Amino acid sequence: PVLVVDFGAQYAQLIARRVREARIYSEVIAHDASPAEFEAKNPAAIVLSGGPASVYADDAPGLDPAVLDLGVPVFGICYGFQSMATALGGTVANTGGREFGRTPFAPAGGVLHAGLDGEQPVWMSHNDAVQEAPEGFTVTGSTPGAPVASFENIERRMAGVQYHPEVLHTPHGQQVLTRFLYEIAGLQPTWTAANIAESLIEDVRAQVGDGLAICGLSGGVDSAVAAALVQRAIGDKLTCVFVDHGLLREGEREQVQQDFVAATGARLVTVDAEATFLGELAGVSDPEAKRKIIGREFIRSFEGAVTEVLGDRAAQGEKVDFLVQGTLYPDVVESGGGSGTANIKSHHNVGGLPDDLEFSLVEPLRLLFKDEVRAVGRELGLPEEIVARQPFPGPGLAIRIVGEVTAERLAILRRADAIAREELTRAGLDGQIWQCPVVLLADVRSVGVQGDGRTYGHPIVLRPVSSEDAMTADWTRVPYDVLETISTRITNEVPDVNRVVLDVTSKPPGTIEWE
Ligand code: XMP
Repeated sequence: PVLVVDFGAQYAQLIARRVREARIYSEVIAHDASPAEFEAKNPAAIVLSGGPASVYADDAPGLDPAVLDLGVPVFGICYGFQSMATALGGTVANTGGREFGRTPFAPAGGVLHAGLDGEQPVWMSHNDAVQEAPEGFTVTGSTPGAPVASFENIERRMAGVQYHPEVLHTPHGQQVLTRFLYEIAGLQPTWTAANIAESLIEDVRAQVGDGLAICGLSGGVDSAVAAALVQRAIGDKLTCVFVDHGLLREGEREQVQQDFVAATGARLVTVDAEATFLGELAGVSDPEAKRKIIGREFIRSFEGAVTEVLGDRAAQGEKVDFLVQGTLYPDVVESGGGSGTANIKSHHNVGGLPDDLEFSLVEPLRLLFKDEVRAVGRELGLPEEIVARQPFPGPGLAIRIVGEVTAERLAILRRADAIAREELTRAGLDGQIWQCPVVLLADVRSVGVQGDGRTYGHPIVLRPVSSEDAMTADWTRVPYDVLETISTRITNEVPDVNRVVLDVTSKPPGTIEWE
């Protein structure tokens, strides 16, 4: 892999993603890993990421200089550029030329910036700057505050930049990173969906052997792709379990039962648990109480399904050995990157599975980013409605009804949600919208007039948001005419709704969901 060294800022993961976008496999590694640990990973190249510190601070996260002597190509970015400069004999100083944000960068020859003529806007974030490049390195660019803003040594296959090539504010950043990988490090783009799928299928086969595996399908992208991969690897030794808790959106059950099964040929057990879930949710309005009930009931349904899956086979002493989960790389990195198979993530999509379920985990997606999961899904022939699906919370529509959850209210919300989704898709806005919760304010009534009569109905809230990762979000500027169509259709077609309102709050301060 290309190893992206994490100096404690949020950039390492983003850089790892950009390397993958250049179709080269990458992993994040801690800056204090030993040279032996680096070597054991057999790195194709090393990228030193940005970090918050000054290289001369007492507690500056260091890199063992021996890592730079492994004979592996190295690319330094921002703080990584400075620590590389210092380690190789150059100098870094606080010159007072601090730069934050968009800055003009003047390329001055070399391989890294070949093809870029004239000043380039780049994103900077630094106090210190490299004063002198290490011996043997050519300076290939400058900014007003950083006379040495990039350097390279083609013979040693090393280069670095003071700016951040990984952010979108550096328009040519991806091109520069790619040039390092291809032209300076000499790597080939082999990390393609087909290769990824093939190698993951082999890995699953090796892990599971003759064992039996089970996978909970939520209707979401991750579980669907994980299940499809495992199905390719072990066929009918995998059983997929779909718990229909009655809190799904229009068409989602069919998507799993028909489209997913048709595309994969997977064995599917559906648990019809709507009555149970609605019974347990009766009278409950508190959002956290709803989540707890749904998590608990999900586990019960799932356990029941496991018993059913085994059937007579249990009598012959067989058991389900493996649980398939759609854990992704960002979760793995955020939880410390451990390779353990025993701990089941608490932020599992449907509220956490209990510790006493004795399964080993199969997590075929644990090295992938979301866009790679989608690419692998397409490679495996999953329909676009599944692979391009927007995030949807495990507790489903229950947390989009502000108030008690009832079958009637679910029916209202389901219809309004379907209309909103249909119109947003028709308007070509899916790419711009991260997700669009549609919320029923079930305990609020307002007066309206329809036909000849006065109505006393409920408001529906549209909450379209744009986001990169759901941690922060902005409300999406949906064109007025699209909003008008949605509003008119919902008030015309959905009984008991006489008002449609738009949520124009960013996150923070608002969350994406209303509950
Ligand atoms: P918030 O509302 O916290 O949402 O801004 C951030 C993202 O998380 C999703 N979400 C959930 N997903 N179980 C889930 O599986 C939950 O209880 C839950 N609550 C929020 C939300 O849809 C958004 O994508």
